[in-house]
Amino acid sequence: MTGKVSVDLSGPAQTMLTTLYCKALDADAERPILGDRFAREAVGRIDFDWDGLKVADRWTPLVTVRTAQYDIWAAEFLAAHPRATVIHLGCGLDSRVFRLDPGPGVRWYDVDYPDVIALREQLYPTRPGYRLVPTSATDPSWLDEIPVDGPVLLLAEGISMYLTEREGVALLQHVVDRFGTGELQIDFYNWLVVRSQKTQKLQRQSGSTLHWAVNSPADILGRVSGVRLLAAETFFDTTTFSRTSAGFRVAGRLVRAVPPLRRALQYHRYAFGPVN
Ligand SMILES: C[S@@+](CC[C@H](N)C(=O)[O-])C[C@H]1O[C@@H](n2cnc3c(N)ncnc32)[C@H](O)[C@@H]1O
Repeated sequence: MTGKVSVDLSGPAQTMLTTLYCKALDADAERPILGDRFAREAVGRIDFDWDGLKVADRWTPLVTVRTAQYDIWAAEFLAAHPRATVIHLGCGLDSRVFRLDPGPGVRWYDVDYPDVIALREQLYPTRPGYRLVPTSATDPSWLDEIPVDGPVLLLAEGISMYLTEREGVALLQHVVDRFGTGELQIDFYNWLVVRSQKTQKLQRQSGSTLHWAVNSPADILGRVSGVRLLAAETFFDTTTFSRTSAGFRVAGRLVRAVPPLRRALQYHRYAFGPVN
């Protein structure tokens, strides 16, 4: 795996370049929140105008706090279920499978658009129990190719907002109905973020559109049957927010005083199936 890899993406698929770059900048920080060396190496291998994204170091926690939190939740799930299936939806170029390095009993599926998966194949090695699934998440057929065998973790980070509510709810319900037991770990934007999308650089740069807003767990509990809430954190309340700099935390205290801003970025975790 040598030489530079070229990239030509647009729309939602392009957004994962920004999340990757945030992780790479964080990895170079004095006190990283995530410390993802795989992201730093991947950025070094891709022929792309990273400066053109105009991502400032100070904003990288908007990505890394979330990713670090889902690493904690995913690791908890895998510790409780060493023989599990992980469906990592909208994986982009995230290296979670390498960061968490699950044991031999885990089957891990990284799922994203074909262009993104083709890029992953050029950048990351394969490993036992690991599969790439090149598909749109909204194509109903791909899930049925994943064997039903033990508990499932559907981990969907940074993708729900690019689906319509109908598509997102149908997808979650399909996972619950097909696999019968497991967890959904998924983040959402609230109405404020979706409504103000024209002001957001990430959406403008990539030419992508935000659709689905979720304002609280009630929006999911009322639409997806068979799920139980395990945790719902906002960006500001989550454990990994405490890893941000003192200055960032002070600014956070001011912002979180405004309820719609406090609830702008939400990290949810649900269980389904028999209660242990
Ligand atoms: C903001 S990026 C997040 C990537 C990664 N989860 C991370 O946190 O770095 C959104 C990802 O969702 C993927 N995505 C969006 N809509 C999708 C769809 N309908 N089917 C498959 N992937 C989708 C994009 O291609 C992109 O990789």
